[in-house]
Amino acid sequence: MRTLSEHLGAERPKIATILGSSLGDVAAAAGAPRSIAYGEIAGFPVPKVSGHAGELIVGTLGGRQVLFLRGRAHAYENGNAAVMRPAISALAESGVTTLIVTNAAGSLDPKLRPGSIMLIEDHINFSGMNPLIGETGDQGFVGMTEAYDPALRMRFLKAAKQEKIALAQGVYVWFSGPSFETPAEIRMVRQWGGDAVGMSTVPEVILARRFGLRVAALSIITNLGAGIEGAAPSHDETKREGAKAAADMTRLLESFMREAGDV
Ligand code: HPA
Repeated sequence: MRTLSEHLGAERPKIATILGSSLGDVAAAAGAPRSIAYGEIAGFPVPKVSGHAGELIVGTLGGRQVLFLRGRAHAYENGNAAVMRPAISALAESGVTTLIVTNAAGSLDPKLRPGSIMLIEDHINFSGMNPLIGETGDQGFVGMTEAYDPALRMRFLKAAKQEKIALAQGVYVWFSGPSFETPAEIRMVRQWGGDAVGMSTVPEVILARRFGLRVAALSIITNLGAGIEGAAPSHDETKREGAKAAADMTRLLESFMREAGDV
């Protein structure tokens, strides 16, 4: 099996983006796309959940070379929070310096409606898991202050303004899943300062920081959290609403890439 670097050859994009639930179609906007199945790249996990393709696209967006990870593996699939470790370490090893993580999430704020996009400014890890448990030596003591790079966030806010996309900012709370939250859990994390909930992203961000990558992350709000205005989230709803917002996400990413300067 070939490593990511071997697959890439002379092409060495500096930016990679993980496309979450039903956002895989964002990669359709890639120019000159080349597809590599995860199964052919050493260490890349083959996702088992519908809505996640398991395919790496090398292509251009906004005039810049980008790696699109269409689909991710989740900690809830087999309890391994570090399931994306080999893939993220391979990205860093290949020369990627910036990781943009996307996901579908439930809103904790009735004002943050389904269909909108939230730029993650910080997170709460409510899963009880950490992908760095078991790291040797002192490698695990990764600082998480400003994990969501302030300069990259500024660029996303600028890109959103240009595209006339309303971009909220907020705190993402990681629940392990795969069951959805209870209404009581949703009320609790709202009081704690959370703005959105989801079942991914946080372990990838921790791993990316471990490997020295700059990180930005975006949530597509697919639903209100359980119990808010009677909401009862489901995976079907996540996929349906995620796909609807994919066009806005594509425009936002394209504008970001055009503006991304020296990253
Ligand atoms: N909870 C957890 N994960 C999610 C949700 C939710 O309400 N919506 C989309 N992903």
